[in-house]
Amino acid sequence: MQILFDGDPGIDDALAILTLLREPVEVLAMSAVVGNVPVETGFRNLRDLAALAGREDIPVFRGAERPLVRDYVFDPLVHGVDGLGGAKLAPSRAPEQTEHAAVAIGRILAGAEEPVTWVATGPLTNVAMVLALDPSLAGKVRRLVVMGGSTLRGNVTPAAEFNVYVDAEAWRAVLGSGIRPVMVGLNVTHMVGMRAGDFTAAERIDTPVGRAAGTMLDYYRRVSGQENWGDPKLHDVVALLGAVSPELLETRPAFVDVETGSPLTYGMTVVDDRAPAERCNCDVAVDVDAEAVKRRMIGALRSY
Ligand code: RIB
Ligand code: CA
Repeated sequence: MQILFDGDPGIDDALAILTLLREPVEVLAMSAVVGNVPVETGFRNLRDLAALAGREDIPVFRGAERPLVRDYVFDPLVHGVDGLGGAKLAPSRAPEQTEHAAVAIGRILAGAEEPVTWVATGPLTNVAMVLALDPSLAGKVRRLVVMGGSTLRGNVTPAAEFNVYVDAEAWRAVLGSGIRPVMVGLNVTHMVGMRAGDFTAAERIDTPVGRAAGTMLDYYRRVSGQENWGDPKLHDVVALLGAVSPELLETRPAFVDVETGSPLTYGMTVVDDRAPAERCNCDVAVDVDAEAVKRRMIGALRSY
């Protein structure tokens, strides 16, 4: 399986990346998008995570620094100013890619001999830009698995989940592109929270990767406790493993649209799971094997 990864690392993105880089798949490229952190920070984090994993062979690209339409407001609360909860990673020494992610990912898709699996764990701004530059590239994507949205409530507002809230216009463009994404929303990622035993298992990993992950998880646990959010949720790890191992997710076809006009419900994903088959534009995750996801992530962190 050939994988493209786009995200906004971010702690759960970083855990997803460290998991991905131990999976038996070929990672063609990783790209940073504005979201949890400004794109320059996300770009640096992607590069440094690749270096930490010993995978500086993977090209890393810098993408959109702002959403398609709305203004971007950086809030360091959830992931910290550095996006990694204070984890100090050795800086990558790989040469910096200067090509914009929207161009580079389009080039990679156009040149792929077989359709590629694409995972997006941040706002869909880069994905929308790639498809806007060349709509035919939707045909080169075997599956687009996105962490975002919700069939229930949001997490930034009662209506909107963060990745959609940052750029709802990008979500609408992707939903209308014919690519038929797999939507991994809060309704399933909230089933995958780190419990005490999971933290204990992670804290016992006495390696550079284990220590970095431990620092990130400690920060994530502290913020979740302060904000009364319950167990810290592994949102992006669920999407990543759902892309690599589709059997971990249960999905249902639906017609999904996104609110972009209302100040009150901007970013809400409206999921019609009773739409006729020919109208469906999305496969919506409705259940996940939560323990398997956590086992796979801990196993990956241990394997470095
Ligand atoms: O709402 C959760 C999503 O927003 C995750 O991708 C997290 O990393 C943040 O980007
Ligand atoms: Ca993310």
